[in-house]
Amino acid sequence: MSSLRFTRYSTRIIVFIVFLINCCNLTVHSQLVQFGGQEIYGLNNKVTMKELNSLNSQETSYTFSSLLKVSSVWNSKNDQLLQVTFMDNRVTAPQKKANKAYSQPITKMPDRPFYISLRNGKPINVIAHTYRDQSLLNMERAVASLFQIQYESGHTTEVDVLGECKTFYSIRSTTRLQKLKTDCSHWDLRIKYRTEKPFGIRLSSQEIVEYDLSAEGKLMKAKSIETHHMALEAQPDIGSQVQSEFLLEHTATGEQPVNQLIFDNLDEAIESLLDWYRVFDIKGDVDGVISETEDQSLTEQISSYLEDLDDNHIGKEAMAKAFAKLLPVARLTKQFEFEQIIENYGDLQFQLADLLAAVQTIDAHKAVYESFRSDVDLLEQYLKSLAVGTHPQITIIEDLLERLKSLGNERIENDKLRDTVVQTLASLARQVGFEPDNALLVKIRSFILHNLEKECADDESCKTLYIRALQNLQDPSTIDILLNLALNGETKISVTAMQALRSFPVSHFNKKHLQIFLQIFYQTRKKYDTSARTFALEIMLTMKPSQEMLGQLLDYLNSNDKHFEIKTYVIQKLNVLSEKCVKFRSLLQKCLKERPYINNYNIMAQKGLTTVLSRNLSWRPAFNESLLSIQEIYRGVLKRGSVELFLSAEQEETSLCKLDIYTSGLTSFVGDSDDISDDDDNYDNSPVTAGMEISIQNILHRPLVFFNGQAELMGHVWKGTASQPTPALQANTLTQDVEHYVMLASGATAYMRVIGFRSIDLYGKVELSLWNRNAQTEIMQKTAASVHGIMKVGFTYAQLTNEFMLSYEPKISLLADLDFYSGVKLCIQLQRPEMFLKYTNTRSVVLQEIAKRYTKKVNSKRTNKFPGSTLALNQKNNEMCNIIFQ
Ligand SMILES: *[C@@H]1O[C@H](CO)[C@@H](O)[C@H](O)[C@H]1NC(C)=O
Ligand SMILES: *[C@@H]1O[C@H](CO)[C@@H](O)[C@H](O)[C@H]1NC(C)=O
Repeated sequence: MSSLRFTRYSTRIIVFIVFLINCCNLTVHSQLVQFGGQEIYGLNNKVTMKELNSLNSQETSYTFSSLLKVSSVWNSKNDQLLQVTFMDNRVTAPQKKANKAYSQPITKMPDRPFYISLRNGKPINVIAHTYRDQSLLNMERAVASLFQIQYESGHTTEVDVLGECKTFYSIRSTTRLQKLKTDCSHWDLRIKYRTEKPFGIRLSSQEIVEYDLSAEGKLMKAKSIETHHMALEAQPDIGSQVQSEFLLEHTATGEQPVNQLIFDNLDEAIESLLDWYRVFDIKGDVDGVISETEDQSLTEQISSYLEDLDDNHIGKEAMAKAFAKLLPVARLTKQFEFEQIIENYGDLQFQLADLLAAVQTIDAHKAVYESFRSDVDLLEQYLKSLAVGTHPQITIIEDLLERLKSLGNERIENDKLRDTVVQTLASLARQVGFEPDNALLVKIRSFILHNLEKECADDESCKTLYIRALQNLQDPSTIDILLNLALNGETKISVTAMQALRSFPVSHFNKKHLQIFLQIFYQTRKKYDTSARTFALEIMLTMKPSQEMLGQLLDYLNSNDKHFEIKTYVIQKLNVLSEKCVKFRSLLQKCLKERPYINNYNIMAQKGLTTVLSRNLSWRPAFNESLLSIQEIYRGVLKRGSVELFLSAEQEETSLCKLDIYTSGLTSFVGDSDDISDDDDNYDNSPVTAGMEISIQNILHRPLVFFNGQAELMGHVWKGTASQPTPALQANTLTQDVEHYVMLASGATAYMRVIGFRSIDLYGKVELSLWNRNAQTEIMQKTAASVHGIMKVGFTYAQLTNEFMLSYEPKISLLADLDFYSGVKLCIQLQRPEMFLKYTNTRSVVLQEIAKRYTKKVNSKRTNKFPGSTLALNQKNNEMCNIIFQ
């Protein structure tokens, strides 16, 4: 301080003259603190944390209060330097008993003043001590931000502690005005997020500041009220809300003249402070302290979750919850500690592979390759779970590509592992969201295309592997290549390419592409496999068909195409879409009205067994989850049976999991001679195979083959091995993964994190009895889902937290019985057992860094029961079930 040069002199008369000039000239600001004057303000900041939709009246809040002495220590005609001192600082929080409060003075807060520089009345910088903590600096910026006023109604852009904001001013009278902020850059400080809306959070923020001025334009009161509302997109009832009131209220005017700094301009005045002070931007910076987790290491945490991580809990709540709790700490863990944990917990290796996959750091990646080395199963487990990641460290992607390119000793010899590395690499490259010309993306794309077009030669399974990789990569620049394969490839290639195209967002397709899909579906140039046709149909219908296109599709039902299973597929698909979408329903009805010859029983009730149906599995207060089941029958044999689960948020849905059972070449055993078309025998000649394909969150894993070739099939039939349920997938995969900071107008930092996991135990089984001439397919899914959310807000001396955990165990089983003893009958049963949705919430307030730490906690909890049910399918199915089980 001694280095500052102060001179006493009064500027009151000059100020008065300046005011007289200013009052009539709107382009020059009025002074909120008069030149040379001193004002005392009461500062009060109350921050409240709420749980959404809670009836509990216990409050969790903190209040920071202080007296601010604001002195104008330098000014020119347009510029001003304000000196601000915090006095009598306190923090207060409510106690459990109503109307009682816990209050403590803050003694550690430095009593040195800080400075605000104003140019043309606008606060530009904060000049403050360098050693001060981030929260306090932000609060100083917040005070400075309150000194920003526009004297004209209308929209503007403003820069303050909240970053750049869209602001709307309304002038109420000569002494009252209000500003409203609806969009600030510092409300959107995303660290991690997911692009699929159902896995995201919905964040809405708003601030209103009301100003009262004196007749001379002095600041009498500034009251900022802001709310930040965070909810799960897929369940808007669940989340947290922060409310903050930041109030500056005039209490007194200094009687003594203020010592003035004598300098020619603002820069020099600021310069004179820099021995002790530094100049800071008015935009706030996140105080990362708020997001720090407890000091427990991953090793300690794992040892307290040992039981929950046990194999018995796969597909159960306990495991899904443990993962959501462990991930934040695991993301900070180093390679060495991971390796030790893997070594110490030999029984938990598969679970650890999943956990390290969700971590997505290079430390976790190296630990996995170091510890699991050549254990193909564990590496595959890791890679499959890694594939759903949305923000892996880029070095992980580079490493996977290197491994695939390695030759000699380093070459990945195991074909299954190689397949999985390719699929994971492609998936990660998609989800990272590279720019189209990103060098790494270009390398990955050319690696896949080079293999597909050159290295594979005529090897069909090699080609399908890389086509699946293109499906996972979803790079729009590969669409033409896939279309060409779909149009001209051999049956299997064509179907796989169509399946890949089906997975692209339809926004990538144009009219020219659509023509090709129509060509495949209607077989205008040549014959296509029924599965390729149904994929083309699906894309066409997702592209919002015009009335004309829909009419053409209806006319097709009356055509002489002998594939009545495809016609059945069309009818069922149209039904599913009209159940889902009102617009589509009215369009369809319009088209049907124009075609009385189609809208009759004979055509609309095709004899096919193919079933396409969609059913709701859960709804409020759980997530909206639905199921799509497609059982595509070809000549009386299940050719493709798929069950897919979706999670939706408003109009958007995302696939959680899809299980596809495919067979081919079985018609010679159980064929139905009814379904024959004259010249289409490709499929019959194909080798006897059956297998299963699984996609988790739109990522297609390598296929699991049940049997390949007649000899293997016979082996299974005689030994009965195919009738053992085959574990298709046991994994814990990351769903929600969001991290976000929000700056508050009071300078406090809010932090939110939402992490969700699904623990999945998926079984599939195909049973075929040639003796009894029947077959059974069973798909069982046991899943547990957990979503853990935390929202914290505060500053150095106080913290509020709202933490919730949502968990449930949605299970389904699908049973398809096929009887071909005389004629073919198919009965599908879909069951959803009873389910409980559990929700717990803890709110807390902690006052800290004061003489005596204070904590208050408020807990709440609820459970909802969803009774089990057998989901009704359709009338024809019911009739067939009755026949089979009579
Ligand atoms: C499923 O729920 C949606 C909306 O939640 C509703 O429009 C639809 O009719 C329901 N579908 C079935 C098959 O119950
Ligand atoms: C869930 O479905 C209900 C019923 O259709 C709908 O009102 C609600 O908005 C949906 N919830 C979400 C998050 O989409």
